[in-house]
Amino acid sequence: MMKNKIIFVACDTSNLSEIKKIIKKIQTKDLKIVPKFGLQFFYSKNGRKFLENFKKDFWLDLKINDIPQTALSAVNSLKDLKRCKYITVHANGGLEMLKLIKKKAKSINKDLKVLVVTILTSLNNKLLKEIGHTKSVEQLVLKQAGLIKKSGCDGIVCSAQEAKMVRKKFKKLYIITPGIRLPGDSADDQSRVMTPSNAFKNKVSGIVMGRSLIKGDIKNNIKRLIDHLNK
Ligand code: C5P
Repeated sequence: MMKNKIIFVACDTSNLSEIKKIIKKIQTKDLKIVPKFGLQFFYSKNGRKFLENFKKDFWLDLKINDIPQTALSAVNSLKDLKRCKYITVHANGGLEMLKLIKKKAKSINKDLKVLVVTILTSLNNKLLKEIGHTKSVEQLVLKQAGLIKKSGCDGIVCSAQEAKMVRKKFKKLYIITPGIRLPGDSADDQSRVMTPSNAFKNKVSGIVMGRSLIKGDIKNNIKRLIDHLNK
């Protein structure tokens, strides 16, 4: 039952032995776990080399955001990463960029999913205003969800707080939500947070968990997550 819930574990460190430790300790037969690597590791000296030879499927979360041709070429440069099954781009890049990236991803590997980041989970209405937006988080996420559907990309990345609303309008969209914390854990720099079970109640397809799992005793954190989801 819990196997249909995907947990993407954010392996956010540039230290290779830490990465290896995380990957080893997050393994469990009770959950479908997929590691996610971001800018911190990819930019590090050992990061890319490690991912070239990595033997498990992973998500490369580079959140590409550039003009269409540059974004497209960036995706093309990832084509040797055979086990990379998910990449991320920003919806801000616009429809044309999303369409081109989806087309390129498909030509590289038909199993490569393009996930589109909407409003970062670290932002809220006040912070959006500060950068010049006049619409609310919810309005922007819903608008961008429509754009994602139109582009043919595979999924949306938003916070679990918007997931219910997005699911209502887009029944089949793949919805992934970061900003997830086990009950009692600190929100850190995230603004729009939710617990794993509440996120799944909002019909998300998968959740992203970093610090709640990888800080402290990783095995115990995984056990806490399983117990929490079984409640
Ligand atoms: O440690 P924490 O669980 O907050 O980590 C969240 C992870 O999800 C980070 O790797 C971050 O880059 C990523 N992420 C996010 N918000 C998005 C997209 C990705 O926090 N909108």
